[in-house]
Amino acid sequence: MIKTDRTHCVRDAGGDVLVVDDFPDALALYEALLTEDGHRVRTASNGLDALQQVEQSEPEVVLLDVSMPGLDGVEVLRRLRARSHGGPAVMMITAARREPDAIEAGLREGADAYLTKPIDARELVARVRAALVKLRLERLLDTQRRDHIAMLVHDLRHPLSSLALIAEVLESEDMTPETRSAVIEQIRGMVSEMTRLIDGMLVATRLEAGIFTVEPRLGSLSDIIEPTLRMFTPVAARRQVDLRVERPADDRVRADSPKLRQALDNIVANALKFTPKGGCVRLRVWHEPPGLTELPGQLIFEIADTGPGIPAGERTTIFDRYRQGSKGRAAGGAGLGLAIARGIAKAHGGDVSVGSSDLGGAAFRLTIPSSTGPRQARA
Ligand SMILES: Nc1ncnc2c1ncn2[C@@H]1O[C@H](COP(=O)(O)OP(=O)(O)OP(=O)(O)O)[C@@H](O)[C@H]1O
Ligand SMILES: [Mg+2]
Repeated sequence: MIKTDRTHCVRDAGGDVLVVDDFPDALALYEALLTEDGHRVRTASNGLDALQQVEQSEPEVVLLDVSMPGLDGVEVLRRLRARSHGGPAVMMITAARREPDAIEAGLREGADAYLTKPIDARELVARVRAALVKLRLERLLDTQRRDHIAMLVHDLRHPLSSLALIAEVLESEDMTPETRSAVIEQIRGMVSEMTRLIDGMLVATRLEAGIFTVEPRLGSLSDIIEPTLRMFTPVAARRQVDLRVERPADDRVRADSPKLRQALDNIVANALKFTPKGGCVRLRVWHEPPGLTELPGQLIFEIADTGPGIPAGERTTIFDRYRQGSKGRAAGGAGLGLAIARGIAKAHGGDVSVGSSDLGGAAFRLTIPSSTGPRQARA
């Protein structure tokens, strides 16, 4: 799927604004201020006219006076929200002291913001800009979510059809035991890839809904690292990348192992994806002892590679959902892996950060607090 960076237009361009007020002087003032700020402004002097204009061409922001003869602002808002799609951002203008119920009614009907009279010119301009940016970001996120679902369905469809073909191969009687085990290995690989895709989607949805939790238990580091290595060693071999591990002697860890593994998988998958043939990916794990003050001890997973690295300007944004860096777009994916990894680390009380690696490429550090007693320094 070809994706372009659509974020640049979110902040910079002026928007389509409809101003609705029955008081001509106010209408002219708002129109002048917002036109001056680079927006394309239309005006309506009553509720019915406003609704007709929205039908003709949908604005991004509606600035709506609450008290108007005929259809008042709250009724116009109710009719706007009753339509099937999301619609524009709506900012209500009230005289707070004279219309105390209007704020509550407007909020109930889905107003995005309020401005109270007397209107401050700078506040009006700033609030319209903020409403515009918020609306565009929400729409962008929606589009990206739809793109991602389409891509996920596509990615799952592919191994599914291969599995159907493999089932036919398995049915043939004249199969050597070697071929049979190779075919079974292939099935296992496909199943774990499909599981990874679906698990990623589940975590992303839960993180988005704010209902993601982890259940840390005392366990073994091997239970986290070894399945990751089993999954990625064949991938590394195929790509002719040297996958190395350095780990501490102390194997204890307090974590939600399956989820922490998922975070680690995403970072290792990236390192392998971006490291060219002949390169190296190194997973290093160590316990950092508690600081002399109240700093707790930490367990650190560092994934370093010999790939292109991350430009300084992208080191924050690559952790945003559905955001890819300059190298990422050409390499496929949804831009979710790091957001998920960071969400999982944060749920453990830790974080993921990125810097440059002594190997020449990127170095990601996933850190979680270690709460199993004092640790020795790097193993
Ligand atoms: N090891 C790395 N080397 C270079 N760039 C990287 C590396 N890891 C991540 N990136 C950059 O960070 C971006 C975000 O990574 P993330 O894992 O969130 O998304 P993705 O890999 O593009 O897609 P997904 O993980 O959803 O399949 C990538 O698109 C890429 O630009
Ligand atoms: Mg990724």
